[in-house]
Parts: sequence; structure tokens; C-alpha cells
Amino acid sequence: MTRGPLLRPEPAGAEFLTLLTPPDWGTIFGGAGPLELELGSGAGAFALGYAARHPAVRYVAIEWRKKYARELEHRARARGLTNLRVVEADARAVIPRLFAPGSLSAIHLQFPDPWWKRAHRKRAILTPAFATLLLGLAAQGAAFDLRTDVRSRAEEMLATLEAAGWHNPLGPGRFHPADPDDVPSSRERRYLETGEPVYRARLVKR
Ligand SMILES: C[S@@+](CC[C@H](N)C(=O)[O-])C[C@H]1O[C@@H](n2cnc3c(N)ncnc32)[C@H](O)[C@@H]1O
Repeated sequence: MTRGPLLRPEPAGAEFLTLLTPPDWGTIFGGAGPLELELGSGAGAFALGYAARHPAVRYVAIEWRKKYARELEHRARARGLTNLRVVEADARAVIPRLFAPGSLSAIHLQFPDPWWKRAHRKRAILTPAFATLLLGLAAQGAAFDLRTDVRSRAEEMLATLEAAGWHNPLGPGRFHPADPDDVPSSRERRYLETGEPVYRARLVKR
């Protein structure tokens, strides 16, 4: 049985948690460049692969499970990925304080927990209000990269994003075909191996 990594003692991104207003990301990353956000990075394969492939991108991954967040930060450091920061927090709570309106060039939300039980639905990350908030934090032309394996949730989330004003270049309710050049997330790797369906959407802020 695999237990995954042990819990590393150092919290990931603790310096960001007490901020009341967005930090100067230029100072934090040591330069300018597109600022991209990942919500719920999990085991972090996408964050690591994407940040390595796009060194000009300044990438912030938010993950509330300590084990995952700390392990991802450790791996980013070990690989010398200076363009990746991890924040161990509830994304819904910290995002309004971390990012200024119009500052994000892309938002990645991949395989968010489906929260099947009715009593747990309130934990679902993509509410109408959150989709609107994210649109406000996005720059003109910013991309929203959504992926999930659950068709009903994919349809709901796509409808929520479109209703909030995210534009779907393929037409309302249309999913995006698989792109062989995409970096797969940890969860996605499994489905690519088993051939199970993945629903993707790529929306933009017009
Ligand atoms: C099913 S996993 C997918 C992880 C990763 N995106 C992937 O595709 O492999 C969903 C992740 O989102 C995280 N998560 C859920 N709600 C969150 C929230 N409000 N803030 C931060 N992380 C959250 C969970 O802890 C979990 O690691």
C-alpha cells in the first residue's frame, strides 16, 4: 500500500496567509511575466510540468491539503523552479487577498472534488460568485483551463463559468478536444492510461 509522502514540517507559502492586500508578485518572483493561478493543485504534476515548460510564467498553486502543498513546494525547490510558488490554504478564502483585479493571465482548475453528498456540496469550489470573482481578477484575454472526469460536473461548471461571463470560443456548452501538447495533471495521467473520458473547457475573458 502506498501512503504518499510524509508531512513536511514547513508550511507552504505561510508568508502569504497574513496579507490583507495583494503582494508585489514582481518582487516575489524577481521579475515580470504572466501570472497564472492553479486552484487545488493536488499532487502537483501539472504545476511542476507546466512551470518547467513555461519559465516566463509566474505560477501560483493553491492547495489546502498540507501534505500535497508542502511536497509540491519541496519538489519545486528541488527542481530549481523559481517561477512556482505554493500556498497551503483554502483557495476561496485567500484568492481575493492575493490577486489584484485584472492581474491573472490564466486560471487552471483541474479535476476539482465532485462532492457527491448533498451536505458537502457547499464545499464545491466553483460557485457562481467565485466564477464572477475569478473573472474580475483575470486580465483581458486570460484563459480558464477546466478539466474534469465527471460529465455532470463538467456541464455544471461550464454553465457556471459561461453565465459569469467567461467566453467559450467553441460555443456555449461545448467541450474542448484533447490536446496532445497539454501537460497532464496527476489525476489526468491516470485517465490517459485507462482511456476514461476527460471533459475539457478552455474559456477566455474577452
Ligand atoms: C481531485 S484533486 C485533483 C488535484 C489536481 N488538480 C489533479 O488534477 O491531479 C482536487 C484537489 O483540490 C484540492 N482542493 C479542493 N478544494 C480546495 C480549496 N477550497 N482550496 C484549496 N484546495 C482545494 C483538494 O485538496 C485536492 O487536492
